[in-house]
Amino acid sequence: MNTTTRKVQATMDDVTELEARTLAEIAAASDEAALEAVRVAALGKKGSISALLARLGTMAPEERKARGALVNALKDKVAEALAERRTVLKEAALEARLATETLDVTLPARAQPAETGRIHPISQVMDELAAIFADLGFSIAEGPDIESDDYNFTKLNFPPDHPAREMHDTFFFAPGPDGTRKLLRTHTSPVQVRTMLAQKPPIRVICPGRTYRCDSDQTHTPMFHQVEGLVIDRSAHLGHLKWVLEESCKAFFEVADVKMRFRPSFFPFTEPSMEVDIQCSRKGGEIRFGEGEDWLEILGCGMVHPNVLANCGLDPEIYQGFAWGMGIDRLAMLKYGMPDLRAFFEADVRWLTHYGFRPLDMPNLVSGLSC
Ligand code: DAH
Repeated sequence: MNTTTRKVQATMDDVTELEARTLAEIAAASDEAALEAVRVAALGKKGSISALLARLGTMAPEERKARGALVNALKDKVAEALAERRTVLKEAALEARLATETLDVTLPARAQPAETGRIHPISQVMDELAAIFADLGFSIAEGPDIESDDYNFTKLNFPPDHPAREMHDTFFFAPGPDGTRKLLRTHTSPVQVRTMLAQKPPIRVICPGRTYRCDSDQTHTPMFHQVEGLVIDRSAHLGHLKWVLEESCKAFFEVADVKMRFRPSFFPFTEPSMEVDIQCSRKGGEIRFGEGEDWLEILGCGMVHPNVLANCGLDPEIYQGFAWGMGIDRLAMLKYGMPDLRAFFEADVRWLTHYGFRPLDMPNLVSGLSC
């Protein structure tokens, strides 16, 4: 063996060994990053194969020819192995991603909350009343559930120690340091007082809200709901009251006509005072409005008592007006045929699913209140 042949032999051993090592590293690379590291170590600027190629330039032509062929073949082989391995790793990575990112398109779609949620009949009736009275030019007034004795009773012309205060089965709080006792409002009428004290006539408001009395049976719960109406100006009279009640009743019960009966009654805050019955039929155990020979009491009303106007800073010689009050829960029971008031407050989802209303069907007079 001459020197050149020996050198080539040595080179061949080197190259074979480098090839075996590099190919083994390529095969062992478990992801694309590891493979890239192998590529840089072999073919990068300072890589092992690049070093061999660089050294060719320093060799004698004959040696360079023999060795050049070897090293270039090695470079091509490694490049090819790298490309093959990269394809394999890419596919494996894609497979792995597909396996973890599966989407089971056979799962049934879940119903939207807006499809499953239901509006409570009380909220529904309040929305219906708001739509009806907004159309008649009324706005909504509100007041607190915890009231003063003064607003709940005194300013409404209940005399001190008058039995009417006890008639309301009031929940009183313990007296405060000044001796006055707060209470849970027994009716929405104190909102009349607040409205008259806060705004100048003409006043046209309805006041829906929670009210409280110590009472519980099939048609009474300790907490219930009322809506109050109040109109004050210089000339409001009983004829207006009658018209407003008739129109709102027809709209609420969604009937073309309804007869009403006004009976004399007593409330401390109105003079004269009346209770109102509406015509109904009870045939077949089912109650229907706008027909039949029966009567059903639905509300109390009257002309606002001059003492109440004066107590609220309005001159009874100048202003007059009318008011009415009714139970919202009772209206809901009558309109939607629910027999037991207590179920309203039991939060039983089955009851709500049955009697509740779809949340996006806002009551309005154009498309109908309850459809
Ligand atoms: N506040 C009365 C009650 O709870 C209802 C009522 C009757 C309100 C007559 C009124 C009215 O405004 O004029 O029994």
